Amino acid sequence: MDVRVVDHPLAATRLTVLRDRDTGDAAFRAALHELSLMLVYEALRDLPLRTGTVQTPLAPTVGHTVATPPLIVPVLRAGLGMADAARLLLPESATGYVGVARDESTYRPVPYLTSLPGSLAATPVLVLDPMLATGGSLAHVIGLLEGRGAAAVTVVCVLAAPEGLARLEQAAPGARLVTACVDERLDERAFIVPGLGDAGDRQFGAL
Ligand code: PRP
Repeated sequence: MDVRVVDHPLAATRLTVLRDRDTGDAAFRAALHELSLMLVYEALRDLPLRTGTVQTPLAPTVGHTVATPPLIVPVLRAGLGMADAARLLLPESATGYVGVARDESTYRPVPYLTSLPGSLAATPVLVLDPMLATGGSLAHVIGLLEGRGAAAVTVVCVLAAPEGLARLEQAAPGARLVTACVDERLDERAFIVPGLGDAGDRQFGAL
C-alpha cells in the first residue's frame, strides 16, 4: 500500500489543535476542515486531467479540467467533518456514504448504512475518515468499494495507527493512504495513542 504522510507546517499546526484536549467542538471542526483541505489537496496530486483550451481576455491558452471526478465517500459519522473540504476542492464530484460504528467491546465494525453507486469500475474513490485505528472500519469500507469494482481507492485520514496500517496493507494492498501522522500505537481500548481522542464525539458531542 502506498502511504503518504503530509509533512507541512500548516498541517502540523492544525493537527496540534485537534490533539489538544482543551480544544472545543467548534474549533475542532474548523481545524479538521482546514487540515482536510491540505490532506485532500495532497491526495489529489496525481489526479488525471483533461487538457483543452481556455480563452483568457487576451488570448487562447492551454486549460485543464478533472478527467474523472472521484467519488467522495465520508465514513459516518466522523468522516463527515472532512467532506466539505473534499467537495470544495472537487465541486464536480458526487458523494456516497458508508455508516459503520466500531463496537467498543469487540472493536469490530458494525455497518449500518451503505449508499454507493452500483458500479465503481470507472470511478476513482476518495474515502474520508479521520481515524485508522484497528483498520476494521476502513477494511469494511474498502471491501464494499472493491465489491463494486473500484480499482483506484485513496483513503484520507488524519491519524493512522501502525496496527491499522498493517491491517489495510493486507486487506487492500492496492489502495493509497494519505495521512497527517502515523502515531505510536493502540492502547488497551484500541484508541490511537497519543491520538486525539474520539473524532466523532469531539465534533458532534458524545451521543
Ligand atoms: C471511529 C473512527 C473510525 C473508526 C476507527 O468511528 O471515526 O471510523 O472508529 O476504528 P477502527 O480502525 O478500529 O475501525 P466510530 O466507530 O467511533 O464512529 P463515529 O464516527 O460515529 O464516531
